[in-house]
Amino acid sequence: ISESEQSAIDAYEWAGRLFHHVLRYTEDGQEAYQYLNDRGFTDDDIEEFQIGYSPLKDQFLTSFLEQKGFDLQSLASIGLLSQRDGNIFNDRFKGRVIFPIRNHQGKIVGFGGRAVEEGVEPKYLNSPDSKLFQKGKLLYNFHAARKVAQKENEIILFEGYADVIKAHQAGVQHGVATLGTSLTESQAHLLKRYVSKVIICYDGDQAGREASKRAADMLQQVGLDVLIANTPYQMDPDDFIQSYGADKFQNQVLGTAETYVTFMLNHLKKDYNLHVQSDQFEYIEKALDLIATVDHAVERDVYLKQLVQDLGVQRDSLDEEIAERRRINERRDEQAKRARTESQRTQTRQ
Ligand code: CTP
Ligand code: MN
Ligand code: MN
Ligand code: MN
Ligand code: MN
Repeated sequence: ISESEQSAIDAYEWAGRLFHHVLRYTEDGQEAYQYLNDRGFTDDDIEEFQIGYSPLKDQFLTSFLEQKGFDLQSLASIGLLSQRDGNIFNDRFKGRVIFPIRNHQGKIVGFGGRAVEEGVEPKYLNSPDSKLFQKGKLLYNFHAARKVAQKENEIILFEGYADVIKAHQAGVQHGVATLGTSLTESQAHLLKRYVSKVIICYDGDQAGREASKRAADMLQQVGLDVLIANTPYQMDPDDFIQSYGADKFQNQVLGTAETYVTFMLNHLKKDYNLHVQSDQFEYIEKALDLIATVDHAVERDVYLKQLVQDLGVQRDSLDEEIAERRRINERRDEQAKRARTESQRTQTRQ
């Protein structure tokens, strides 16, 4: 780690402590503190996640860091400050609740800043990507979650900061979140090094459900077992915990997490009118494609039984279709594997 990176971390650490202090102990922080309170964030949450508030002053943080001797130009280049008219530096997160984002060593390398008023755009202002802070490589709360995750051999994946914090309040300490972007391959590989199972607990809106599919695909591709939790429609985990409490979250949302295939079959079913024959055929085709990708025969059997029950079709014909699809998939995988070794060979020759 270079000197300038260390200096950037130091600045973020100072800023994180300053904003946290403002929120907890000053008049300037009272409105934001009240806001957090109304949303159900406790003092324990605020301490554990070092939540803060950047007051509505142009140069509150800026002059603090200037006095500490930091180079304001480089702090602007990592998005801790903003810069205008050449050499005027200002606070970038002003008027926002601050969620410090830590790297995997536990050091603050970025902020998520939430507007206190509803309707302010953007709702979240985040630190921009830099060498120090790469949204596609980090996960919110990973440094704290990984110990418990390793012990439980599973990790819970959320969409937002608030979800992770509320889940923690509800006794779920192995929760992490992506930083406003879709789950990347690099994040999936990171998780694979620590656990063998991931429970996706995204928002219960259409966007969350579509993102669940993409994340599940990504996680399965790196060899992780995936379950998808049942966040009710139009709620997110944070809302749910706020309305119904920890026990219901544990039992009804996480506790009823389904396999990827069940989740997908349920959503697929909603896309078709199964009383119309052409729809029924299309549904069966898609359902079989999905079930054929399941490697455990017992698991396949469960889904096929369900299909027989839902549609009144013959089990024998389904079995034939599955066998055929698995042969095709196998051939395709073999070919892909051969192509890979072939290209490796040509590369080593060069
Ligand atoms: N996000 C972002 N920029 C936005 C909106 C969202 O970076 N303008 C990211 C944040 O990390 C946020 C996550 O996407 O936590 C999930 O977005 P959303 O569900 O809209 O926000 P919530 O986490 O539910 O935020 P809140 O509960 O504070 O309303
Ligand atoms: Mn404190
Ligand atoms: Mn969302
Ligand atoms: Mn949300
Ligand atoms: Mn929310």
